[in-house]
Amino acid sequence: MAGMIPEDIINDVRTSVDIADVVGRYVQLRKAGKNLFGVCPFHDEKTPSFSVSESKQIFHCFSCGRGGNVFKFLMDLENLSFPDAVRRVAEFSNIPLDQSYFKTAKKSSYSSEQSALIDLYEKASELFSHILLNTKLGEDALKYLKDRGMTEADIKDFDIGFAAPEDNLLLSFFKEHKIDQRLMADSGLFIESENQTLRDRFFNRIIFPIKDANGKIVAFSGRSLVKDPNHPKYLNSPETSIFNKGKVLYNFSQARSEIIQQKTVILYEGFMDVIAAHRASVKNGIATMGTSLTEDHINAIKRVADRVVICFDGDAPGQKAIARAIELLRQSSDLQISVVFIPDNLDPDEYVEQKGIESFQSLMHQTGESSTSFLLKYDRTGLNLANENDQLEYLKKALKRIGSLRDALEQDLYLNQLSDEFDIDKRDLKDQLRESVADRIAHAPNQFELNEQTPPPPVPGEEQQVFNQNIQKKLSQVDISEYRLLARALNNHDVWLKLQSLPNFYFPTEKLETIYVLASGYLEKNHEYNVADFMDYLKEDELQAVVADIESINLSPEFTEEEIQDYLSVIENVAPLSEQISDVKSDLDEATRLGNKELQQQLTLKLIALYQKQQQLQQ
Ligand code: UTP
Ligand code: MN
Repeated sequence: MAGMIPEDIINDVRTSVDIADVVGRYVQLRKAGKNLFGVCPFHDEKTPSFSVSESKQIFHCFSCGRGGNVFKFLMDLENLSFPDAVRRVAEFSNIPLDQSYFKTAKKSSYSSEQSALIDLYEKASELFSHILLNTKLGEDALKYLKDRGMTEADIKDFDIGFAAPEDNLLLSFFKEHKIDQRLMADSGLFIESENQTLRDRFFNRIIFPIKDANGKIVAFSGRSLVKDPNHPKYLNSPETSIFNKGKVLYNFSQARSEIIQQKTVILYEGFMDVIAAHRASVKNGIATMGTSLTEDHINAIKRVADRVVICFDGDAPGQKAIARAIELLRQSSDLQISVVFIPDNLDPDEYVEQKGIESFQSLMHQTGESSTSFLLKYDRTGLNLANENDQLEYLKKALKRIGSLRDALEQDLYLNQLSDEFDIDKRDLKDQLRESVADRIAHAPNQFELNEQTPPPPVPGEEQQVFNQNIQKKLSQVDISEYRLLARALNNHDVWLKLQSLPNFYFPTEKLETIYVLASGYLEKNHEYNVADFMDYLKEDELQAVVADIESINLSPEFTEEEIQDYLSVIENVAPLSEQISDVKSDLDEATRLGNKELQQQLTLKLIALYQKQQQLQQ
């Protein structure tokens, strides 16, 4: 059993960081009013309802209701225990902690079998690196990589290795290390024959470890050293319980902080492109495993970026892939999209190699083409615009594209371009546009992106109700007064004292009453109310979320006597009632015990009437 971390240390650790800095590593935050807002990392959403208060040092999601301090954030997001969350924050601020607090097994989101796989991959990766860098077997591969412009730093940064052509080197290595046969078979690193003997899956291939969002190796991809029509250029490990091609993004863990800083992610087609760009100090690049983007990929991207720059190969399949990526990104996100075109039919990696780092950097520093402008050009592929039929076909496509834009100004811009290029009156184009939009709405409402306005983010305005939406639906007048009164009492000592001076006061809602009672204990010990600290004191998740809810109520800075009195009178209409109810109940118990049937009946009727009254008040 691990020793408890002393409270003052927990407190030191918590106050050593700004919650916004910790949350900001995972969620892109933007200032709106006095809080920071972002897309909630705990559930899928398009518009941000996740807020962080720097003054209170807590987070809160208006949509899913989660809330708490920095420890709670890490516990929920990384699936950590409380001590591990404290440790994580301590690491963030370089505060040394006594290791004896952490004797219990580390909790991670991977099961023990999955962790065993990850350990195995780590060992395999070490062997592959060793072979590439330090052995004769790796000489050709190392030369190949260097000839392609790769530096030692790249090889280290991406943990690149080499699987030698030698017979079953990895298999012998693992056997020597007495690795469990079953684990080896499950790892995907071997091919199992019918009689269950194993042989290496990867040989004579450059090995790229594939890592999860936290940098743990979950798979490998191997590039063959030689061109061979009988074997694929890249060979991936098969999917396992920890490797899903539709989820993993190459280099995501390493690029994350740069992506967040720039609010921009660059999407490449291949690993080699990501690595070449990294060498050119363009470090916010990622790639899929050679597959199309999935919704999971896009969800991961939109948590950290506002903008995606697509930088695919300059050839025809590359252009097709760009159009597809734009379509998918538009379907599942509000991300800004732009396209950087690599000239001369090169891919980014070839461009860096042939034209140099600086030339690549300046290419990447351009704003790029907007996705619409790209698509309008792409729509011309295969058409001869000198031909009237082709021209008409193109105009139809183009109007469809323009009609799907959300921004009227943008629509106007492209209409002007079309009108200029084809010498057609803009008014005619506009009429046509309206028709095509109406047509789409009538015929295929789900197939196209309509001009739906997404609802604005719930940035709290003065008058706006900012309760957790789940609660908001059920909130009665009494609930609202209770929440507001508790918010005032916690944050203002005069209100607190006033409540304490009322002999019979209590909060009718049980959770609020619990918080109120716990707050008395807390204030006796601490003299001053600090939300983030109080959250640790509360411990229970549910209560922490309610406090986050309370703290997110947008109250004016100053309170008035009248306001407090209003809350009290709304609440007290209920409070005496519940007292009456419990009185009648105990009378009824007494009457039942005595066997007084007449009194029993009378009291039952009275009780029903009180319940009805209570219900009316709560609606
Ligand atoms: P490319 O064929 O564009 O490779 O495939 P590349 O990045 O230019 O690689 P080099 O420069 O020839 O070494 C792009 C991506 O598609 C996937 C890989 O993920 C690769 O990075 N791919 C490609 C495969 O999965 N299998 C293949 O056989 C080829
Ligand atoms: Mn390439």
